[in-house]
This record gives sequence, structure tokens and C-alpha cells, in this order.
Amino acid sequence: MKQIDPCTLVLFGASGNLSRVKLMPGLFRLDALGRLPEKMAILSVGRGAVSREAWHADIKGMLDAKFKKGYDQKVFERFIARNHYHANPPTDPQAFERLKDTLSDEKTFPQNLAYFLSVRPSDFAPVVDQLASVDLLNEEKYWRRVVIEKPFGTDLPSAKALQASITRHLKESQIYRIDHYLGKSALQNILLQRFANTVLEPIWNKDYIDHVQITNTEMLGVGDRTQFYDATGALRDMIQSHVLQTLALTAMEMPKDLSPEGIRTEKIKVLEAIRPIPVNALEKHAFRAQYAAGEINGEKVPGYLEELGNADSVVETYAALKLFIDNPRWQGVPFYIRTAKRLHEADTRIAIRFKKAPMQIGSGQQQNWLIIGIQPRECIKMEIQSKIPGLDIRTRSIQLDAANRQDGDETVDAYEALLLNLMEGDNSQYLHISEVEAQWRLVDPVIEAWAKDRKPVHQYPAGSRDPEASKVIFEAEDQFWRYSIELGGDAE
Ligand SMILES: NC(=O)c1ccc[n+]([C@@H]2O[C@H](COP(=O)([O-])OP(=O)(O)OC[C@H]3O[C@@H](n4cnc5c(N)ncnc54)[C@H](OP(=O)(O)O)[C@@H]3O)[C@@H](O)[C@H]2O)c1
Repeated sequence: MKQIDPCTLVLFGASGNLSRVKLMPGLFRLDALGRLPEKMAILSVGRGAVSREAWHADIKGMLDAKFKKGYDQKVFERFIARNHYHANPPTDPQAFERLKDTLSDEKTFPQNLAYFLSVRPSDFAPVVDQLASVDLLNEEKYWRRVVIEKPFGTDLPSAKALQASITRHLKESQIYRIDHYLGKSALQNILLQRFANTVLEPIWNKDYIDHVQITNTEMLGVGDRTQFYDATGALRDMIQSHVLQTLALTAMEMPKDLSPEGIRTEKIKVLEAIRPIPVNALEKHAFRAQYAAGEINGEKVPGYLEELGNADSVVETYAALKLFIDNPRWQGVPFYIRTAKRLHEADTRIAIRFKKAPMQIGSGQQQNWLIIGIQPRECIKMEIQSKIPGLDIRTRSIQLDAANRQDGDETVDAYEALLLNLMEGDNSQYLHISEVEAQWRLVDPVIEAWAKDRKPVHQYPAGSRDPEASKVIFEAEDQFWRYSIELGGDAE
């Protein structure tokens, strides 16, 4: 367990959805697990005037909603005593001076300060400016850290503009850029399973691997977030960070150690080694589609364009890309990455197909697959060829299937892990600016090209498998989308 300095977490946007569902309950759980330092305060900052009592009642409501089976009253009392509220009305020019006054009460608020900006992305830079204007980012005596929620920009220029703005006041070591996927234990496990196992690392390269698929699919549609989604799309929403981060962990070289610098250095290198997607041959490298009306779990659901109420939208709810990594380990190995809403299954996984075996026995023989399940099931599966007992020499695939999660294992939410890392000063599970920029640099040309192309977008019925047309991006005829359950499952 790392030592945590006494500190104050200043939570901007504490009344918002993220705070209610993840941050407050996450902090409470950390307190219950004994992971918060004794001297640790939480100062919630919001636009409205709210008394401390009313704020405590609000927090109780958040915890009641999250922990339906109840919680320990002693922990609750300790937790609630840490919580304070500060009103920061946007109309008050002195608001941040008053925030500084509030925080100057050293007995209540330890002076190491972590600011969590759970606010609208357009407010990230102005809040940092205002904190700097009242000298609340100065690290002369105490540490000062700022968490920037997702998204960090909406393209490369806006990410660079945000970076330029906040680095007028902050060093890279003070900036904690969130991709909450990195807080998931299953993602951290990719690195460990790869490098802590002699049987995996030697075959993890172009000599043995035919191709890699990284998949994140949902059965859910866009719900009531239609306007947000139509301004975002699947590439920005999922691929730009979550899926590319999963790819980075799958493909990176072994870090020199497990320090934040060690891990980030190798992730940056591999992200920067991804070959730019050729926009002049986009149709062979990228495929998009939108869900049409269909059935999910036996229930009829409308299509994306109907939900949006705009038949002209070309925004994708399905996106698949083919990527190549130009380094010695991966030269020539396609990485197919895809994300979709309203597919037939909700699953996040990495599926690796190995090359043809040296002995070819005849029909029915499959290539080996290794599958790392991230969500919902955390597992590792290996498919190998085995003789069917009997007089003839015939093979079938059998599965070695191990759950990474076992009964009684701790369930830690990604935000709990990230909040703890923040207080510990460990930013290895947060994004470095070079990662953010490499990710935008890769997807921006595709987003631009797709936005310009106003032809109607390919439709797939809600609840179906990948559109047949998506196979256009495969390099070889015998490649197919791999699903989670069945052995050697094909898209047909
Ligand atoms: N919700 C999620 O699961 C999730 C997931 C990923 C990323 N994020 C990111 O996390 C951040 C917070 O998300 P959220 O869903 O919690 O946001 P939210 O509920 O819409 O808003 C957060 C807070 O911002 C303040 N706010 C809202 N509208 C405002 C306005 N017009 N002017 C000034 N302040 C305003 C409100 O606080 P006061 O009224 O108290 O000032 C509100 O509680 C965003 O950057 C989002 O992109 C959220």
C-alpha cells in the first residue's frame, strides 16, 4: 500500500451525474476500505448556494442509491465529516478568491490539493485559468494536481489548444487526463499476462500472430443522448481513446519497469508507430454503419436515424478500422478494431489469431486463437487443435478457459482505482499528452473524410452481427469477425 499525503480533493461538478454515480460512491468505498488518509477532506464546488447540511443529505441520497444493501454507519459518519461545500456562482467575480479563502483554513483542508474537473469540457481551461489567477496551482510548498475528464479535445487542434492553455499554469506531472478504461483491473491485467508469462511473450509478434481483433460492442443504443452522440460518433466516443488504449496495452514493448514513466514511454512509442490510415484508400481501411430498427432481447427497437429525428445524419454507430504498427514486432500484422452500438452481444475483448500450424492435417483444422475477455467476463481462453478420439485422424478445437476473476475477489470500480492513484501521485493509468495527440492524429482524417461523405450510411438491423459489408477491411479471405463464445465463430 502506498503512503498518501494528507490532502484535499476539490470536486468541481459534484452535483453532476458522474459525481453521483461514480465519484462520491467511489470515495466512500475507498474510505470503507481504509484507503483514504485520516487527514483528507473533500470540498465540493458548485454554482448554487447549498448549506453543508443540505449537501450532506444530498450525498446520503447518492450513497443510498448506489449501495442498496446499506452501508456501515461508522464509515458513513467518518465520510460525511470529510465533506464540505463551497458555492462558486459564475456571476461572482470574486468566486475563486473566496474559494482560496475557504481552502486557507488549514485545519479543515490539508494543503495538498487535487482538483477534479467533473464539469463541461468547455469549462476545463477556464477553471484552470481561474485557479492559477488566485495562485491555487502553485507547488512551492504542497502538491497541486488537476484531473481533466474525458474528452480531452474533440480533435487534434482542440486538444492542442486545451493543452496550450492549461500548460501556461501546469506542468505535465500535475495533469491527470482521464480515460476511465485504464482504471479497470482487466486492462491492467493485459500487461501482466503478457509479460509475466513465459508461454505468451515469445509468441506475441509477427512471426506467430496472423492478426489481432480488438472489439467493444454494446447492445444498448444511444438512448436519450442523441444530440451528444450525433456530435460525437463511434470513432470519437470509443475508438479514439478506450479502444486505442486497449491496443496500446496489447501491442506495446515491455516497459523497463512498472513506473508511470516506464509504462507511458512504451505506450506512447507504440501509438506513434501506428501507420496513418490512407484517406485515399479509406474504404479498404475503415468501415462505418448505423443501426436500423431491429430486435434486442426479443424487443423491437427503433433505428438510430428515427431516434435522432434526422434522416440526413451520417454519424456512425458502428466503426471498424484496420491498423498496422510499423515496428519490428508487428510489421505486416493487421489490427482490426471495432466498436458498435446495438449489436447482438455486449462484449469487450482482444482476440488474437495465430498463423497456420507447421503440421496441416486436413479439413476441420482451425488456427489457434487466444482471447482475453475484458467485459463482461474477465478471462483468458486459448483454443488449440486436438485429435477427436477414434480410429481416424481428425482434429477439433478445444478451449482452455480460465476466469481471471474468482469468487471472493475484490470488485473495484475504475474510478475508485483512479481516485486512489490521483492521491498517491501515480499517473500511470492516466493519459500523457503524447498519447492523446497520437490518438487524435490517427482518427482525425477518418472523422473528417466521413463527415464530408454525405452518401447514406450502411444500415444494420439492431441486434444483428457485424454487417457483411464490414469484411471489406480484411486483408485475407479467410479472416472473419471473431465472437466471444463459440469456437471459431464466423460472422455468417
Ligand atoms: N457521466 C459520465 O458517466 C461521464 C463519463 C465520461 C466522462 N464524463 C465527463 O465528466 C464530466 C462531467 O460529466 P457529468 O455527466 O457529471 O456532467 P453534468 O451532470 O452535465 O454536469 C456536471 C456539473 O457541471 C455543472 N454544470 C452543468 N451545466 C452547467 C452550465 N451550463 N454552466 C456551468 N456549469 C454547469 C453542474 O454543477 P453545479 O450546478 O453544481 O455547478 C453539474 O453538476 C464531463 O466533462 C463529461 O464529459 C462523464
